[in-house]
Amino acid sequence: MKTVRVHQYGGLESLKYEDLPIPNPGEGEARVKIEAIGVNFIDIYHRLGRYQGTLPLTLGQEAAGTVAAVGPNVTDVKPGDRVAYASVQGSYAEYAIVPAWRLVPIPTGVDTQQAAAAMIQGMTAHYLTSSTYPIKAGETALVHAAGGGTGQLLVQVAKRRGARVIGTVSTEEKARLAREAGADEVILYTQDDFEVEVKRLTNNAGVDVVYDSVGKDTFDKSLNCLRRRGYMVLYGASSGAVPPLDPQILNAKGSLFLTRPFLGHHTVDRTELLERVNDVFNWIAADELKIRIDKTFPLAEAAEAHRYLEGRQSKGKVLLIP
Ligand SMILES: NC(=O)c1ccc[n+]([C@@H]2O[C@H](COP(=O)([O-])OP(=O)(O)OC[C@H]3O[C@@H](n4cnc5c(N)ncnc54)[C@H](OP(=O)(O)O)[C@@H]3O)[C@@H](O)[C@H]2O)c1
Repeated sequence: MKTVRVHQYGGLESLKYEDLPIPNPGEGEARVKIEAIGVNFIDIYHRLGRYQGTLPLTLGQEAAGTVAAVGPNVTDVKPGDRVAYASVQGSYAEYAIVPAWRLVPIPTGVDTQQAAAAMIQGMTAHYLTSSTYPIKAGETALVHAAGGGTGQLLVQVAKRRGARVIGTVSTEEKARLAREAGADEVILYTQDDFEVEVKRLTNNAGVDVVYDSVGKDTFDKSLNCLRRRGYMVLYGASSGAVPPLDPQILNAKGSLFLTRPFLGHHTVDRTELLERVNDVFNWIAADELKIRIDKTFPLAEAAEAHRYLEGRQSKGKVLLIP
């Protein structure tokens, strides 16, 4: 089977398209024939070695397809089932071995590409708005990179919970997409000072929560956008990692809360996984959550997909097709 592996951390040239034998499922595992693979920023961190694994490493954490075979003692799925999964390493491939408890059935009304696209970004939007900071009607959220893949979903889910959403984006095209997703206000943070704009838009009150996936370039000013006792939810580092910080800063800026959450800690068992993903799939099937598949690339062109995401081009989900 074809795979994309990294033998040495580095640039796009370190992505190798190569053959491996088709793997066999062990106890509690299933083999999935992959039809669509989600590309995520974390794949870039893995390629660069910012998050280290064992080399050679098959990239990818998310896919959807059909169960091709199951190992002993698998009851959650059977061959032929349409399934999707997230948070299991090695999805840049034609087949993957996945713990069966992590495979979720794809309902009718959700197609395979939508399912692959919704797993990580959709469940992230879900847990950030319902568990990390359960945003309520009448509250205001600042969502950075609101025209990106996760950003568009985060805007939609925060809106369905009744929040007012201020989004930041780098271009007019992304501003349009953020507004289409439901953002009440959109700031072009490459042109305007988003701290000044947020203060103006909130009459200096500040927002209840900042959902920040950009990291280094936005973190300091994001703290200044919060109300007293507001929540800083730093969930990514698309512009680079935030340097270490003195906790006293949180006191000085208004007894702020800071968290750095991770999807894996919010899908800890099958019950929690299914609760989140079924919400997301039901919203998609009911056309209440729009999944924008921005671009698909053949698996062999994984480097182009990375170039696109890393180069700040993504305006929705990026998929690889084996
Ligand atoms: N913690 C978790 O559980 C979790 C789960 C999923 C994703 N994430 C994180 O969420 C973030 C978004 O992931 P995604 O896959 O949905 O990507 P994405 O938002 O579609 O793409 C990243 C966006 O970040 C913005 N950005 C700002 N500065 C950038 C820079 N220097 N280089 C590249 N992009 C920059 C760009 O939007 P503008 O051009 O509008 O600035 C870009 O489109 C990533 O940091 C990812 O690690 C975290």
